[in-house]
Amino acid sequence: MTETLGFCQEMRPESCGFVLFGATGDLAARKILPALYGLCEKKIAPGNFYLVLAARTPQDRPALENRLWNTLTRAGFSPSPEVFSSFLGRLEYLQADYASPAFFGRLAAALTRLDGKFGVKNKRLFYLATPPEAFEGITASLKTAGLLFDPKDCKCWSRVIIEKPYGSSLESAAAVDAGLKQAAPEDQVYRIDHFTGKETVQNLLALRSANAVFDNTWNNRFVDHVQLTVFEELGLEGRAAFFEKLGLARDMMSHILQLAAIISMDLPETFRDTDFKASKRRFFESLRVLSPQEVRTSVVRGQYAGYAAESGVAAGSRTETFLALKLLIDSDRWRGVPFYVRAGKRSGVKRTRLDIVYKKPEQGIFRHIDIGYPNVFSFSIQPEETVSFSLISKHPGPKLCFARRSMGLDYRPEGGEAASYPTDYERLLIDAMSGDQTLFLSSAEMSGMWRFLSPILTAWREDAAGNPLHVYPDGAPGPAAADELITKDGRVWV
Ligand code: BG6
Repeated sequence: MTETLGFCQEMRPESCGFVLFGATGDLAARKILPALYGLCEKKIAPGNFYLVLAARTPQDRPALENRLWNTLTRAGFSPSPEVFSSFLGRLEYLQADYASPAFFGRLAAALTRLDGKFGVKNKRLFYLATPPEAFEGITASLKTAGLLFDPKDCKCWSRVIIEKPYGSSLESAAAVDAGLKQAAPEDQVYRIDHFTGKETVQNLLALRSANAVFDNTWNNRFVDHVQLTVFEELGLEGRAAFFEKLGLARDMMSHILQLAAIISMDLPETFRDTDFKASKRRFFESLRVLSPQEVRTSVVRGQYAGYAAESGVAAGSRTETFLALKLLIDSDRWRGVPFYVRAGKRSGVKRTRLDIVYKKPEQGIFRHIDIGYPNVFSFSIQPEETVSFSLISKHPGPKLCFARRSMGLDYRPEGGEAASYPTDYERLLIDAMSGDQTLFLSSAEMSGMWRFLSPILTAWREDAAGNPLHVYPDGAPGPAAADELITKDGRVWV
């Protein structure tokens, strides 16, 4: 087991009731219910904790239990009879009608009853796993039913968790946000981007903060450029209805920008959420918004060849499944250092990674000899969880020859310890139960993302000829145009 050093910060989830709206939907099945069960299985859930599953579908108890079992096994669990029955013992199902005040009245009564049964005192999390159009109505009804507390008035709390897509444009996202804020102030709104909950993403900041040798060189004096890759082997996985409306850019931009922010933002003074968010906000403020002309030259969109034949995809669909782009950050630290991004579905083996590519030597014999980029600091976020640093060293032997070598660390320690770590969603749920917003997105970050993304979507819509949709073979790392994006700057994908 790896020994930890003196500094350890631990989240302590508080006893609470957890209400999941949209409990029979895809997001609930794939991510939230498995995370809630995982917290129970790993014994990280608070002792006094209960769960209300709310959805429109009528469902009796046997059907619910059967459905939950299938959900968990599909998510990779082999539930033990004890843990599964204790999980079931903590949950109730409520058929929902989000438009009806009577439903929120029933919910309020159920929460009062369950608070008594489980020894919870007016502490509630509401997870809105519903389409964003429903956010405003649900939060307004929660407020009217007296379920959103003002913590100044009582020793209680209520928090609302929402998930992307936050609207479909800058304007609609602002409208969703304004609607939410009428019922719940910013400190009660937890906007999830599950990439921030990944262990390896948090390790980026840990490494930067604790090892000055790296962070002091992460700037335009030393770094030539940065690469960010988010490739997925999978295609639509039956989510055509969702994806056709969204496309890759809307689906993944939040994840991409969170990764870019965490790798490049100035280190916060502390890991408190206020400092952290202030730093991240500065990143979003310094992100260069692209002009229509820059979108033509700095952004590539693609679609995998087999997309048109996927079930549920409209004939002639122009939905993008791939995106490559060049980001520029107008800050003293990063001015002049491009961040090249590639993200795509069916783009080969799944890999999410960040590569910091250092400049070539400016002095010494190698300044005249092209050996490519000698130093690349690579962070594999998933599925491998590794950090490596490549360098040029002397090749052993009598001659003075040079070879490319790599130093590496496997982030997960050996042994069974890793199995007890929370997954990304589990970690974020614990933070929400602990009242820590550090890893959640602020309203400013969300609008920063839209300020960046909206002009790209507009250019695609209004200038289709200048922004062609490139088809790429299934499993290829995007179209040739994605390579040209970087080679025309005299660089290559690592
Ligand atoms: C989700 C997107 O937010 O992230 C999916 O909606 C995508 O389309 C997924 O597949 C990727 O997440 P992860 O954690 O599996 O890399």
